[in-house]
Amino acid sequence: MKTPTISTLIFFLFVVFSCSWAASVDVQDAFFQCLSREFGNDTSISSLVYTPNNSSYSSILQFSIRNPRFISHSTPKPLVIITPDHESQIPPIIHCAKENGMQVRTRSGGHDYEGLSYASKVPFLILDLINLSEVTVDVEQKTAWVEAGATLGTLYYRIAEKSPILGFPAGECPTVGIGGYIGGGGYGVMLRKYGLAADNVLDARIVDVNGRILNRESMGEDLFWAIRGGGGASFGVILAWKIRLVDVPEKVTVFTIDRTLEQNATQLVHRWQYIAHKLDPNLFIRVRITRQNSSQDGRKMTIRASFLSLFLGRVDKLLPLMQESFPELGLVREDCKEIRWIQSVLYFADYPLESPEILLNRTQPNLRYFKGKSDYVQKPIPQRGFKGMWRRLYKPEAKETEIFFSPYGGRMAEISESAVPFPHRAGNLYKILYMAYWKEEDVQNSDRIIRWVRRLYRYMAPYVSKFPREAYVNYRDLDVGVNNNEEEISYEQASIWGRKYFKNNFDRLVQVKTMVDPNNFFKNEQSIPPLRQ
Ligand SMILES: Cc1cc2nc3c(=O)[nH]c(=O)nc-3n(C[C@H](O)[C@H](O)[C@H](O)COP(=O)(O)OP(=O)(O)OC[C@H]3O[C@@H](n4cnc5c(N)ncnc54)[C@H](O)[C@@H]3O)c2cc1C
Ligand SMILES: *[C@@H]1O[C@H](CO)[C@@H](O)[C@H](O)[C@H]1NC(C)=O
Ligand SMILES: *[C@@H]1O[C@H](CO)[C@@H](O)[C@H](O)[C@H]1NC(C)=O
Ligand SMILES: *[C@@H]1O[C@H](CO)[C@@H](O)[C@H](O)[C@H]1NC(C)=O
Ligand SMILES: *[C@@H]1O[C@H](CO)[C@@H](O)[C@H](O)[C@H]1NC(C)=O
Ligand SMILES: *[C@@H]1O[C@H](CO)[C@@H](O)[C@H](O)[C@H]1NC(C)=O
Ligand SMILES: *[C@@H]1O[C@H](CO)[C@@H](O)[C@H](O)[C@H]1NC(C)=O
Ligand SMILES: *[C@@H]1O[C@H](CO)[C@@H](O)[C@H](O)[C@H]1NC(C)=O
Repeated sequence: MKTPTISTLIFFLFVVFSCSWAASVDVQDAFFQCLSREFGNDTSISSLVYTPNNSSYSSILQFSIRNPRFISHSTPKPLVIITPDHESQIPPIIHCAKENGMQVRTRSGGHDYEGLSYASKVPFLILDLINLSEVTVDVEQKTAWVEAGATLGTLYYRIAEKSPILGFPAGECPTVGIGGYIGGGGYGVMLRKYGLAADNVLDARIVDVNGRILNRESMGEDLFWAIRGGGGASFGVILAWKIRLVDVPEKVTVFTIDRTLEQNATQLVHRWQYIAHKLDPNLFIRVRITRQNSSQDGRKMTIRASFLSLFLGRVDKLLPLMQESFPELGLVREDCKEIRWIQSVLYFADYPLESPEILLNRTQPNLRYFKGKSDYVQKPIPQRGFKGMWRRLYKPEAKETEIFFSPYGGRMAEISESAVPFPHRAGNLYKILYMAYWKEEDVQNSDRIIRWVRRLYRYMAPYVSKFPREAYVNYRDLDVGVNNNEEEISYEQASIWGRKYFKNNFDRLVQVKTMVDPNNFFKNEQSIPPLRQ
């Protein structure tokens, strides 16, 4: 075959681009006509609508992107971004998107591991809830209403502002959006005492596919069940959650103990597996694995296991507990800090303990490219299993990798597998999160790094849950399966990834979906499909 000349190539590209551009401009025009009909003389919406024509389109798009993998030129961009500042604006937007066959991607905090809240191959709009972020705390009732676009950091700050002895069991990264976070379950360092964030939801407000604004009573218990961990994006637009706040002591204790291989890290991690899920529920000890340069002669690198801990109590109670259950770690008083609960939030976020206002800042420091994957461990991994993991961590691709082991047990083991869609309860010792990170200067190696973390995941297969190999939906990983692209997503195809995230709860999620969105308007690469009618 003759190699095409540059000019034929350019001509070809021109044809392809101008056609798809023309098609999307039509969709966009029709969408805007619909919006102006719907909003009538209320012109306030126009200042909330951004197209590629608007100078701030790119900055609005990028502001909440937490994985720069999906900022590149080749990432498909939205036709429109809308940033509603009142919930009443959302039903007409849904209506017009439906009428014009535009997919809606709802974005709260933008932390989706695979960028599903802001990238799609089909014509789409981003409903960016960044300005629906009010938090209203009721200290008397120990509850709060939290709008979906609020971050975990804002929630923590607003609680602490009102009370030093109330908290909420959620994650460590303050910039995560509450909308996506609770929609996928949501865990954090208090889960052994209080369960998931989704276990502490009392009510919710949602816009359904017909543009109705529903609360728990009007949506019914099936839909209310589904949105608390089933991935909110399949069922509508979550506007707000009403949550139950939990008691925290005036002082909590935190510590971090680092051990390298030379300091028996392998034995300690191995031992930790037998202990961490059985500890007092007030005590949470996570392990973070990284590699570091070795100070030892003759060794270039070593592995560091960091034991990061929150104890809901004071150091005088913690020390005897540790002495009794995990003396090998050698915890001493000097390792511990007694601080307020809100400071423990800053501690786990790696922020200075003195300035809680930083929790209101939505800009994530130290933004890196990443690929994440997750596993559940149901029986202890033998030491040789860990040694194989360490060997892989010495590869150049693992320069920035972090692996986290987060213990379950306590309250997590008491809640039934079907209470909410999140099924990973009793029987799980801990969850693994594999995070392969890289920086801008290593972008040309990103494919190699992603292949490396996939190989590590394959290596781990014998040691982790099987049939299905379970995964956590909030650590979204398109490697575990995706929907087919056809008009009708097949149940069989979806159940490949669906059972890994939800086990048998997948079937109930499909039933709810069939009931509330039978034509599958709310969809993405890993959305729950309705059954064919
Ligand atoms: C740095 C970092 C730290 C993390 N730490 C934790 C942790 O400690 N614990 C934990 O459990 N998880 C953690 N996660 C995972 C996080 O919970 C998920 O990525 C979660 O989905 C993020 O929610 P979001 O609103 O920020 O993300 P988005 O990207 O905005 O949304 C994620 C998904 O939910 C959908 N969605 C978002 N808002 C709505 C809404 N209002 N209505 C309907 N659908 C919606 C989106 O369309 C998308 O499919 C972390 C992620 C990152 C990047
Ligand atoms: C918009 O029109 C309605 C009637 O169609 C009227 O009641 C309302 O006052 C108008 N609002 C504004 C801001 O002009
Ligand atoms: C974006 O541009 C359009 C016209 O091109 C304008 O109507 C709209 O108000 C602009 N949006 C913002 C947020 O400035
Ligand atoms: C964007 O700009 C182009 C040319 O400047 C114009 O033709 C088009 O109508 C604009 N689109 C919108 C949505 O304003
Ligand atoms: C959010 O609201 C604030 C205050 O009204 C405004 O200054 C800001 O521009 C809004 N942001 C977006 C993305 O619409
Ligand atoms: C490592 O373990 C061995 C045997 O259990 C023990 O003798 C040694 O003191 C430990 N080393 C450190 C640094 O704790
Ligand atoms: C570790 O060693 C490598 C190569 O010797 C060096 O480039 C790197 O900066 C070192 N890292 C740290 C954290 O010291
Ligand atoms: C928010 O955090 C970012 C990143 O750490 C920082 O650059 C910025 O100055 C902060 N903004 C404010 C208002 O403190």
